[in-house]
Amino acid sequence: MANNHPFRIGVLGSGKGSNFAAIASAVAAGTLPAEIAIVLSDVADAGILALARERGLPAQFIAPGKFRTKLEEDAERAFVNALNAAQVDLVVLAGFMRVLKGDFLRAFEGRIVNIHPSLLPSFPGLASWKQALDYGVKVTGCTVHFVDAGVDSGAIIGQQTVPVLDHDTAETLHQRIHAAEHELYPRCVAALARREILVQGRRVIRKLP
Ligand code: GRF
Repeated sequence: MANNHPFRIGVLGSGKGSNFAAIASAVAAGTLPAEIAIVLSDVADAGILALARERGLPAQFIAPGKFRTKLEEDAERAFVNALNAAQVDLVVLAGFMRVLKGDFLRAFEGRIVNIHPSLLPSFPGLASWKQALDYGVKVTGCTVHFVDAGVDSGAIIGQQTVPVLDHDTAETLHQRIHAAEHELYPRCVAALARREILVQGRRVIRKLP
């Protein structure tokens, strides 16, 4: 990551894009010192693409190919090419519903982050808020982490807790976790953009000033 140009981020999402919107708002407010260079989706009519276009940001659908949970090889290459063409420093996954494989991970090694709706390593995988509710934990939350070859297993950058209330439903708990994500994700991306983050194996720490 060169230091002499604005920090450029590429955002990948498959859904409504509320985390993208939180990040874009932080950029607009000046609390996240970065440029959103490109927004990509594997879903043609994803809300995230519409939100990006509303903000005048480059947004592109790339057909994912025949698999359900990963990208076909050509599609993976197209995603990598688009991110490289946009000269991104960091790839931000915001509700991207496919597992990234070797070539993609190698192309952006140590430069891909994700947000997950639980306190990892508890409840990886799908519908984590429901997993937490069904398990009966009293505290859950969200996690921003680097992406590695596993599922929700990369080094943890930041976490925010959310209490599980007695009368929570999956829906109400999910809403509060989402709200916590919208605070945590821009904060973590800002720390990366400011290059305040030091990675020591699995430990991700703040550099001393
Ligand atoms: C978030 O809950 C995030 O934790 C998960 O996907 C969801 C994306 O939501 N990885 P949105 O599209 O940002 O609203």
